Amino acid sequence: MKIFITGVVGFIGYNLAEHLLKNKKNKVYGIDCFDDYYSVKLKKKRLNILKKKKNFYFSKIDICDYKKFKKYAGEKKFDISINLAAQAGVRYSLVNPQKYLKVNILGFINFLKVLKKNTKKFYYASSSSVYGESSNFPLNEKEKLNPKNVYGITKKLNEIIAEDFFKKNNTGIIGLRFFTVYGEWGRPDMFFLKLFKSLKTKEVMFVNNFGNHDRDFTYVGDVVRILEKLFKKNINKHEVYNICSNSPISIDNIVQDFKKNWNFKVKYRSMVKADVLKTHGSNKKILKLLNFKKFTHIDEGVKNSLNWYLKNKIHKIS
Ligand SMILES: NC(=O)c1ccc[n+]([C@@H]2O[C@H](COP(=O)([O-])OP(=O)(O)OC[C@H]3O[C@@H](n4cnc5c(N)ncnc54)[C@H](O)[C@@H]3O)[C@@H](O)[C@H]2O)c1
Repeated sequence: MKIFITGVVGFIGYNLAEHLLKNKKNKVYGIDCFDDYYSVKLKKKRLNILKKKKNFYFSKIDICDYKKFKKYAGEKKFDISINLAAQAGVRYSLVNPQKYLKVNILGFINFLKVLKKNTKKFYYASSSSVYGESSNFPLNEKEKLNPKNVYGITKKLNEIIAEDFFKKNNTGIIGLRFFTVYGEWGRPDMFFLKLFKSLKTKEVMFVNNFGNHDRDFTYVGDVVRILEKLFKKNINKHEVYNICSNSPISIDNIVQDFKKNWNFKVKYRSMVKADVLKTHGSNKKILKLLNFKKFTHIDEGVKNSLNWYLKNKIHKIS
């Protein structure tokens, strides 16, 4: 299979590429612009690992640069194209909403326009943030969408644009509503990497809303296995799927668990307006489609992630 990934040196993009490259029959083409929202050194480290594989092809391209992106796609043909390039993060959308509109909307439209004739099947990252604040747990894909921040609004718009793209071109396209993905090569702006950093450096760990948040943490190893299976399915319409473990856990429970074995400083503070209190998705729809059964237990996922963090001395580069 020839697979094209945008945002390939990002957290999910890297893990997906690394997994797919194990199959020598796959050819993975990836682009990224090395956006500096978080450590570029970390992104370069991820790229250096991917570059060791002969079936990996990388180009530095900004998806907002239509001309360059179009020139790159040129005569290439892909079985799969997946858009993972985005301005991620809920809280930063309070600071720089313009960037979300540019990358997540303009960039996504470029992705579809440039690849329309070159790709058999399309996939794109949506987010659990499309749901907003809710109480009807576990949330299934039919739930009303009521995003609480500009990030979630751009992801909801992606889904509307994808629906329109399907109707106009009759091309299969799948939206992936990821729920708090964590794991090896994770993002320094997310909970677990912040926690690991404070364990290692003794810097204060700030915990929002006094730890009273529940998150449906989903291990990146499960995400990439789900995507690999999904890529093999025939698709002929626009569908969205929750990609989640259906096992929410309280942030403070995790912090208290770590307190038992580690000496680190925690400062609790009030809620950030962009955050939702709880995420908890139903994964029935995706499990039924793929016959995917076993999610990694959070204890095992966190153990793997911490080992990776310490072994690679990630605190020094992020
Ligand atoms: N990680 C999660 O928990 C999570 C949850 C919900 C949704 N998502 C979505 O999944 C996707 C991947 O998330 P991630 O966690 O890997 O984030 P990430 O920030 O690690 O990866 C995104 C990558 O896109 C690149 N990028 C940004 N702007 C670009 C541009 N204009 N052109 C080319 N590349 C660009 C960045 O350099 C980065 O490497 C994003 O769409 C994100 O919104 C992630």
